[in-house]
Amino acid sequence: MPARSIEQVRNLSKRRGFVFPGSAAYGGLGSFWDYGPLGAELLNNIKRAWWRDVVYRRDDVDGIDAAILMSRKVWQHSGHEATFSDPMVDCRNCRSRFRADHVASELDVARHAYVSSVEEMLHEVPNAIELEGRRLLTNRLLTAIQTNSIDALARIERARQRGDGFISVFGQLAALDPDVLESGRRYAEFIQDHFEVFRQAYFQLGLAVCPNCAARDWTLPRNFNLMFKTHVGPVEATDAEAELSARAYLRPETAQGIFMNFAHVQRSLARKVPFGIAQVGKAFRNEITPGNFIFRTREFEQMEIEFFIKPPQFVREGEKNDAQWHDEWINQRYEWWLGLGVDSARLRQREQAADELAHYSKRTVDLEYLFPEFGWGEVEGIANRTDYDLTAHSRDIPAEDLARLKLEPNTDSVEKFDYFDPDAKARYIPWVIEPSAGATRAMLAFLCEAYHEELTKDPPQPEIEAIKAEIPAVVKNAQKKQKDAEKETDPAQRKHDPAAIEAFCTALEEAASRLPQSLLEIDALLTEHPGAHNLEPVKKLQPKVNKLAEDCARVVLKLHPSLAPIKLAVFPLKKNKPELVDIARRIAQTYQPHFRTVYDDSAGIGRLYRRQDEIGTPWCVTVDFQTLEDNTVTVRERDSMQQQRINLEALRDYFFTRIHV
Ligand code: GAP
Repeated sequence: MPARSIEQVRNLSKRRGFVFPGSAAYGGLGSFWDYGPLGAELLNNIKRAWWRDVVYRRDDVDGIDAAILMSRKVWQHSGHEATFSDPMVDCRNCRSRFRADHVASELDVARHAYVSSVEEMLHEVPNAIELEGRRLLTNRLLTAIQTNSIDALARIERARQRGDGFISVFGQLAALDPDVLESGRRYAEFIQDHFEVFRQAYFQLGLAVCPNCAARDWTLPRNFNLMFKTHVGPVEATDAEAELSARAYLRPETAQGIFMNFAHVQRSLARKVPFGIAQVGKAFRNEITPGNFIFRTREFEQMEIEFFIKPPQFVREGEKNDAQWHDEWINQRYEWWLGLGVDSARLRQREQAADELAHYSKRTVDLEYLFPEFGWGEVEGIANRTDYDLTAHSRDIPAEDLARLKLEPNTDSVEKFDYFDPDAKARYIPWVIEPSAGATRAMLAFLCEAYHEELTKDPPQPEIEAIKAEIPAVVKNAQKKQKDAEKETDPAQRKHDPAAIEAFCTALEEAASRLPQSLLEIDALLTEHPGAHNLEPVKKLQPKVNKLAEDCARVVLKLHPSLAPIKLAVFPLKKNKPELVDIARRIAQTYQPHFRTVYDDSAGIGRLYRRQDEIGTPWCVTVDFQTLEDNTVTVRERDSMQQQRINLEALRDYFFTRIHV
């Protein structure tokens, strides 16, 4: 079973050197992370696997590496300066800051459900009118309102009745005639157009509850631009004009670097449409609520492709149109994740609703992974960006195209990003399909998927029973300490944190009901849980659990071999036998130039295997006394734990046919 909690993965990451908090010596810096020796390997392997599949394995994609800092004008014309923002609110009571759409997500959910149900019905209008008449549609509309968005409507109605001046806009709702289909359409449009007003009212009236302190006293939502600002060259902060002309942004997506290089790549490689440009690199977003470990961070890495295709009007019979290219990329990207070991039960395609789409997108399908605890989360988005971006960055665009894309003329650009198609004998601005994945987010998904705790043999029943028998005493003692701590009115004088103890007891009792499978979980709870600290019965029980867990259980990262940070670990059976050490070192040196191989003799073989299992090393080689006699070594496979003897001569073939970097 994959990870049950993000905490399991976070603990392992810290313990074994995958991910550390950034600027840790100074208390950290909000949601910036450093990737340690194994994390850097894993991240590099993810990026390499992606590059291999989307660049090397294709004839129609080239890779680039564009600058991170780009002219402010790029972000003005891409639309990011005006629109790349999230609504932000502050709780006046505890001063916590949140993304408004995270606190009041039910409002957005109701909006999506309502708008898409109306859209769906509008598609059916001609048939439905013919077949069943308007009454049916009206009923369906009312049902949709009742089933999908009744909560939001009730709240809005309550707000209206309270007669707040700000809410007068809601009066218009009452005027809508529910018997007429058209009112559904108008209502949907109304919700879209006035959504920010709804949101403001929702917070102003205290309908949203603070997730931190449960208060209902909010500032009004205001839009906060997510781009990090910086300046190129020396600039006085007080000189507003100079500040603006020296201002640059750290890129919030790598995509714009690709658009800027469309013409360079096309001309220098004489590429014909369709072709793509791929890029891997850092992106930065000043997220309002980063979190869930490395899921949402302010500095992260993206792996993006802009795949340039013919505009619909130039597509000839037998050629793929934009919708077909889009579907093809969705399928290929979905398969990429499965091919690297993600189970299809935890990977889904989700169509973005019309009102979720970014300003440039005609259609976007997200690939979502089922993370432990917080559930489905986007790991990649595949968007049809049409000709929006290349047009936005081009000068001399005809008025009808500007109107179609809702763009202003660009008088800053010296380029026109069009292309002469020799087959069509015409010049056009290509359309774009964009598969855009997060590399750091992919790392979290692959770690969650690969993380397994499993028994390597059945633990002796009497020892399990003994642990089970001790747990009620641990819980009883912990609850007593919890009560004592609650009686202490000055929190600074408390020896224990009552909330942490309560959480510890709940988790311990639940895990105890799953013994012996939960042996490692119980070991981690007793060792690491903040509620377990300074409890005498815990100190007594922990060594017994730890010993049994070491003997009978293991943490294993079942990473795909091409992602595994270390591919091969080589051990001598005895570190004080130079003849074994020599051979083991020589084997390690043979493979070190080809893939990450380590030599280790710092513990007994059993413990060395456990350590490599925990970081996902797919193969271990042990040199023992038999090696001296028959030139064979033991090769142990991580997942099956099976061991076989292989001749040193055959080792090269064995690994080179299995390990692809
Ligand atoms: N060029 C399109 C684009 O940037 P996006 O959906 O905003 O689209 C693409 O981002 C991918 O980048 C996401 O699917 C996610 O994997 C990753 N990503 C976005 N914001 C992130 C963040 N704050 N932290 C980590 N990864 C992030």
